[in-house]
Amino acid sequence: MSFDYRVNPQAPADSLEAKQPTVDNGLDVLDPARYYSTDFQRKERERLWPRAWLLAGVTSDLPEAGDYTVFEVGHESIVLVRQAGGAIRAYANVCPHRGNKVVLNERGSAERFTCAFHGWQFCTDGRLQGITDEDSFHPQLVAHRPGMPEVRSETHAGLVFINLDGKAPPLADWIGLPKGYLEMYEIDRMHVVRHVRSEWLANWKTGLDAFYENYHLPHVHPQTQGVLEDHAQYDLYPNGFSRMIVQLCKKSHRLADQETVDAGLQFMMRDAGMDPDGFHGPAGDVRAAVQQSKRARAKRLGLEHYDRFVDGQLTDSWVTGVFPNVQIGCHPEGVMIMRFLPHPTDPERFYYDTMTMFRYVDDPNYTVPAWMGLPKDVDVSGAVRPNCVFVPAGMSPDLGEVLDQDVELVPVVQQGLHSRFYRGALWGDQEVRIRHFHRELDRYLVGER
Ligand code: FES
Ligand SMILES: [Fe+2]
Repeated sequence: MSFDYRVNPQAPADSLEAKQPTVDNGLDVLDPARYYSTDFQRKERERLWPRAWLLAGVTSDLPEAGDYTVFEVGHESIVLVRQAGGAIRAYANVCPHRGNKVVLNERGSAERFTCAFHGWQFCTDGRLQGITDEDSFHPQLVAHRPGMPEVRSETHAGLVFINLDGKAPPLADWIGLPKGYLEMYEIDRMHVVRHVRSEWLANWKTGLDAFYENYHLPHVHPQTQGVLEDHAQYDLYPNGFSRMIVQLCKKSHRLADQETVDAGLQFMMRDAGMDPDGFHGPAGDVRAAVQQSKRARAKRLGLEHYDRFVDGQLTDSWVTGVFPNVQIGCHPEGVMIMRFLPHPTDPERFYYDTMTMFRYVDDPNYTVPAWMGLPKDVDVSGAVRPNCVFVPAGMSPDLGEVLDQDVELVPVVQQGLHSRFYRGALWGDQEVRIRHFHRELDRYLVGER
């Protein structure tokens, strides 16, 4: 029996909502050592991370010339800088003199960068500007005017990507999603309103796998059943990209009572600016009612880009996998970007980096959606870019109840992977995105990419 859940069976085949044709990724059971061996980690370090395009930042973090932000992956530190001409460029954050990191803070605005070790200076376009006591250097050593080397970068839909070895195909060819898919959300007009990076005691792929399926929801997050259908539509795109459509404002089919509009759904209605007391239909009608309400609200507020969204997108999360290590929960109001960043040395640690982005609408009846789980006092106007909050391993990142449950789960899974009695994952049809991702990863590791 194959699982072929469709959110909207009527969706035209060429629409973005339509279920994508299946991809045969086989039934191999992969050696679990990929989740903990240092040898596998070394292969990833040599063959995956330098070759792939990596999501390094968002354009709205760099509005003005001289604005910069630092992205770190493994041993590499990269500075993204908005240039005087408007383009965003990336530079290796390493001083050519003795290797110190030139930029030490996570973001800011600068006219030049000065290395803290001996004061060498660099322009914001990476060129060497000045050497302290230059006459103390033999001219031959510095004749090539060593600057901060440029790293290949490109932007797509408000997202900045870098490619460390400079040899990846053009970003537009590498992105496996249909044209317009990410662009439609206008992420460039959203702002990061919360940024949390927590360290988890697991391989980055153990974390990613857990976020790539909804199969675990009834067991790990049973409290979501009142407002979310855990059967999702799973779609596979080229180049390891994928999606799951998760319907919100809908009860799980697992609940016996499909009629009563209880507290969860009422909350979702209020969240969308509706008055639940004025709603008299059964629970199954809530999702469509919320969609209509959001559509009408967007018209009132002049949010023209809503015209591009199909009804489903107004309630559902289009959870989009950007190979290799990113997943973006896409909603009209905002997006949740999660990055699974490998630890530089330990294959059994990773950083779960989440950026919550919101498109501010200046209207008292338009509030941040509840799925963002933002604390009350957060400034959502985009005026202030909050610093990244770093949460060490073993502590709760305070991202809400659902995430807390995952934080507890994933390190335990990681331990189980080591058992001599465990043979490797048996991925079912609700886990096709995971297999699709690992197949693409393996293409990199054997040199097919
Ligand atoms: S290491 Fe940067 S100036 Fe010496
Ligand atoms: Fe989860």
